Formats: sequence, structure tokens, C-alpha cells
Amino acid sequence: MLTIALLGFGVVGSGTAEVITENQDRIRRATGDGIEIKYILDLRDFPDSPFADRIVHDYDIILSDPEVQVVVEMMGGSHPAYDFTKAALCAGKSVVTSNKEVVAKFGTELLALAAEHSVHYLFEASVGGGIPILRALAHDLATNRVHSVNGILNGTTNYILTRMVEDGISFDAALAEAQQKGYAERDPSADVDGHDAARKIVILAAMSFSVRHNPDTISIEGIRNVKVEDVRMAALAGCAIKLIGHAEKTENQKLQLWVAPCAVPHENPLSHVNDVFNGILTDTDMLGQTMFYGRGAGKLPTAGAVVSDLTDIATHPYDVATAQHWSDGDSACLTDSATEEKARFLVILPPALDNAKLADALSAVAMIGNEEIGRCVITTGKITRAALDETLATAGKNASVYRII
Ligand code: HSE
Repeated sequence: MLTIALLGFGVVGSGTAEVITENQDRIRRATGDGIEIKYILDLRDFPDSPFADRIVHDYDIILSDPEVQVVVEMMGGSHPAYDFTKAALCAGKSVVTSNKEVVAKFGTELLALAAEHSVHYLFEASVGGGIPILRALAHDLATNRVHSVNGILNGTTNYILTRMVEDGISFDAALAEAQQKGYAERDPSADVDGHDAARKIVILAAMSFSVRHNPDTISIEGIRNVKVEDVRMAALAGCAIKLIGHAEKTENQKLQLWVAPCAVPHENPLSHVNDVFNGILTDTDMLGQTMFYGRGAGKLPTAGAVVSDLTDIATHPYDVATAQHWSDGDSACLTDSATEEKARFLVILPPALDNAKLADALSAVAMIGNEEIGRCVITTGKITRAALDETLATAGKNASVYRII
């Protein structure tokens, strides 16, 4: 029997208790034994919950109980989650978490601490909710060299962009709807400004290249400035606008690592990932492209990923040789996405007679105008973003620009 303690009895915490209770028979079949929740740490009491007798308010009770083998941290935020994680690892207890903020900021240190104490630090639920992507990178794709990872990693922004495409509503209207449905927080900035996706792509890059970069040092652009005219013109050019987290090793061993709204051509499977769903497209040397798709958020999908980490711990003793070991990367190893990366772009701007001249200057491969939308879209040749911006500025154009992936 694996004896665990839950830190936090909110959405994911209560979901984890539910999955363990509902699917205990399947857990037994997978592990040979079950999982027992001995404690649940929360500030609140839950007198009506079937788990009311497990609620504690003092973390020391959990830390000092030698029967507790795994602490499951689902508190969110950096502190005290990071401090509680450290204390558990130092006490020789494995830690499972859904907390992407802690993993993205402190993952290198916490994995090293886990190795020092020969215990697990697992975080499948921190990226892509219920999608088994981290385990795939750690095990199934471990013998492949990863070239790139592109992901739709935030369900809230994907819902907003889908609503803008499908119903032609504005960003503000789609955000209000996402808030009403409980997808977006009252303060939506972590989602719409790209910080949540940034933490997740940092984790995916660390899993792929064993180097963790501080999410605060990567280029992050959210979706606040995406206009409904942009998504409609992008559709005419055969693309969907999606918030993409991108990680790619360059030939000179630098790393492209950024989050931005991009134009995704319809032949790319990521363009068909809609609503609150997430999609992650990996490109590796042996397998080529592989698409992971599913529910990137929500109580039971996320809790399911937490429980899959617990079954992993129940069935595999810690092994330093196969565990994750990251180092912290220097921001000098990141490419400057504006000056060092060449790509094709969609440039969306009001129609004008001199747009043909601009299209020539941008080595455009296509230009489409639409009177009803009142916009023109130019598909550029390969160019850096800095050169593109300079050409637009010289021509006196104020345009929306999306990199094509
Ligand atoms: N706010 C996140 C999202 C939750 O919308 O995807 C899951 O990490």
C-alpha cells in the first residue's frame, strides 16, 4: 500500500481523492496494491466530505509521520508550495505535483534534492493536464533526439481564440464568456498574457533538452492584441491563430524558446485543436512528428495525471540513472527571436494601393484582400521579425503580424 498525503483540497486535490476512491480497483491492478490517503492538509475544514477525518492543518504532522511515503502538492503558487516540497524531499518522501509554477522556477534544484535523497519528484499534471506528455518524453521518446516541441498549452486562451474564429466575437467578449464558464480567472493575466504557457514550455524544453530556463527570461507575448479581423483574415490565408509555446534546438546548439500567438496552417494538426483542449506536437529524430491531444485542464483529467505519477512511484523504485536531471540554462544560450530566427509571417493590414509594393519588399508568396473584413493579408517569404518590423515602419504601416509555424 502506498501511503500518501495531499497538500491542498481544492479542485485538483479533491479530484485526486475522487480518482483514488473511484478507481482503486484499477490502481490495485496496476500497482499490485492500493493507494491510501492518510492526511489532507488544507486551511479549511470539510465537515461534509467523506475525507473529513483526514484533514489536518499542521504540515509537521505529515512530515514527521514515517508512514507517509509521498506528498502530493496541489496548492498552487510558489510559496509555501516550494518550501513544503523541499521539506518533504529532505525528509525522504517523494513528491508529486501539478504545480507548474514551482516546477518551472525551481525544478532543477528540486530534482537534484530528490536525487540526493533517492526519492521521486514527478509532475506529469503540470503540463497538458491529463495528457501523458512528460512520461512520453521521459520514457517512450527517451531514445530519440528532440528537434522541436510546439504546443497549445493553455486551454483558456485556446477557448477564447476558438470563440473568436467560430463566432466572430471580439477578444473582450470571448474573455468575458470564458470567465462566465469558469475557464478564465477573474484576473486572467496568467493565461491571456502567456505566463501559464511559458511555464509549461519551459518544462517541456527541460524534459526535451535537460536544461531549464527561467520563464521570466524567455520572450512571451499573449493574445490581448489579437483582433477578430486578424483571425478571419488568417482563415482566408489557410491558417488558424493559436497561442503557441515553442522550443527548438538550433544547428549551433542554441535554443529557441518563446510563447506567441502564431498562424498555424490548416495542414498542421495543431490548427485543429479547439476549445479548451491542448495539443503538443513533438518532432524527434527517429519518430518524426507525434501529436499529443487531450484535456489540458479540469478536475478529473488533471487528477488522473497526478494518480498516474503515484502508480509510477508504487511500481518503480527510484533509480538515479533513469531519473530526470536538469541544469539551469544561461539566457545567452537562447536565440533572440526577433533577430536570429527567420520565418514566414502573416501581415494583416488595411487595404491600400501601395500594399503590392510592400508585398514585393517582403518577398511575399501571397496577398489576399477582403472588402467585407476591410483587411489585406500578405504571406511573407522567410525573413527575421526585426527586418519585417523595419520594413513596415519604413512604409509607415501599422499591421498585425503573426509568425507562421
Ligand atoms: N489556466 C490553465 C489553462 C489551467 O487554462 O490551461 C491548466 O493549467
